[in-house]
Amino acid sequence: MTPFLTAALTLIGMIVVTARIDDQLAFVALAVSPGLFLLARASSRRLRSRWYQVKAVQSLAMSVVQEVLAAVRVVKAFGQEDREQKRFLQHASRGVRGQMELAFLEGGFDLLVGLTIAVGTAAVLVIGVLHVQSGTLTLGALLMVMAYLAQLYGPMETITKKMADLQASLASAERAFTLLDELPDVAERPGARSISRASGAVAFQNVSFAYDKNHAVLHDISLEIGPGTRVGIVGTTGAGKTTLVSLLTRFYDPTAGRILLDGVDLRDFRIADLRNQFSIVLQDPVLLSSSIAENIGYARPGAGQREVMAAAELANAHQFIIGLPDGYETQVGERGMRLSGGERQRIALARAFLKDAPILILDEPTSAVDAATEAGIMEAIERLVRGHTTFVIAHRQSTLRGCDALLAIADGRLVHGDAAVSISTGVGR
Ligand SMILES: Nc1ncnc2c1ncn2[C@@H]1O[C@H](COP(=O)(O)OP(=O)(O)OP(=O)(O)O)[C@@H](O)[C@H]1O
Ligand SMILES: [Mg+2]
Repeated sequence: MTPFLTAALTLIGMIVVTARIDDQLAFVALAVSPGLFLLARASSRRLRSRWYQVKAVQSLAMSVVQEVLAAVRVVKAFGQEDREQKRFLQHASRGVRGQMELAFLEGGFDLLVGLTIAVGTAAVLVIGVLHVQSGTLTLGALLMVMAYLAQLYGPMETITKKMADLQASLASAERAFTLLDELPDVAERPGARSISRASGAVAFQNVSFAYDKNHAVLHDISLEIGPGTRVGIVGTTGAGKTTLVSLLTRFYDPTAGRILLDGVDLRDFRIADLRNQFSIVLQDPVLLSSSIAENIGYARPGAGQREVMAAAELANAHQFIIGLPDGYETQVGERGMRLSGGERQRIALARAFLKDAPILILDEPTSAVDAATEAGIMEAIERLVRGHTTFVIAHRQSTLRGCDALLAIADGRLVHGDAAVSISTGVGR
């Protein structure tokens, strides 16, 4: 923006000075400015949309890199390095071609600007000479005007060219704002209410859900769960178990029906408050690239070392952690890649235990550990979840032992004789 401003000021100054020497010459010199303006407008539009496309192609190339690095083992295991490299080169060379075309476009535009200004200079010279011949202007004054003219056209050229240069930045800004303007999947209602600690009563009322409109995943699910109930969720793979609990934490909103927590529609709560009511162990536990202690403590910022260790002990993780060379300070690597699947899972469990929220959601919490470790963990869960509403998704019977009620889901429907199941503590099964 700064060159714009200085150029505009210089331009005004030079117009005033030239006009005081010979106003007709100043007028002729300025006559080219509408031409320049039109030129800049026409080319800006074209440049901007081209830049937009080029940036999109460039980020496509970068996303190939990101994807491949994240899945580098899969790529190597299947020997697809060449194919991925080709995929990258394909996008990257499209980006290069696009940039070269843009360079030509900009070059052509610069040429036109130069030509327009040359025409202006020639016109001033011709008319100036005529004025000198007719005696209305001295030769010295004409030379002075010609010198000022260079000063006048300099800023005009700067402004016009900067307008073209700006288009690349504007295209980037446009892409960034498109992302920022993206509406979140779930939105907080104005005046949403806050909640400090829920008692843990959950009810689904005719809940249906679809990730995309034509393909419903959950159909008309109704159930009622009293506070402190341990609910096991079973069903074939792809039945919709993970989806069901994702609705509870409002990762998505139901397409029909409503979900109540303590008798209040989830959508009436503030989202941050609502999510604070849940401790979750995801089916595919992801760790952050930092130490084990930090990963467990992630659930509750400010938790002391003793609390972190207690949580790890509950999750049957303490023993293996102190066996590591750096103990709790061991770096887990990107997404926890330096740990085994079972170790990752137990750290995710410890993280959930540390949070101590009223509702616990465990999506196959022990799928990656052996039977003995699982028994230890389930025992800990049993002790821990007393007084907490708990949802345990599992394929293994052993994980579900001790549940107060079982929800069986098949093809997104509750299979329980009738659609509405009422479950309260101790009843069911
Ligand atoms: N993010 C998503 N976008 C679109 N469809 C999805 C998404 N997640 C899941 N699905 C689809 O929804 C259905 C239910 O998936 P869900 O993950 O709930 O199954 P699940 O019961 O947890 O299975 P599993 O036992 O294998 O974990 C599946 O058919 C799946 O293809
Ligand atoms: Mg699942």
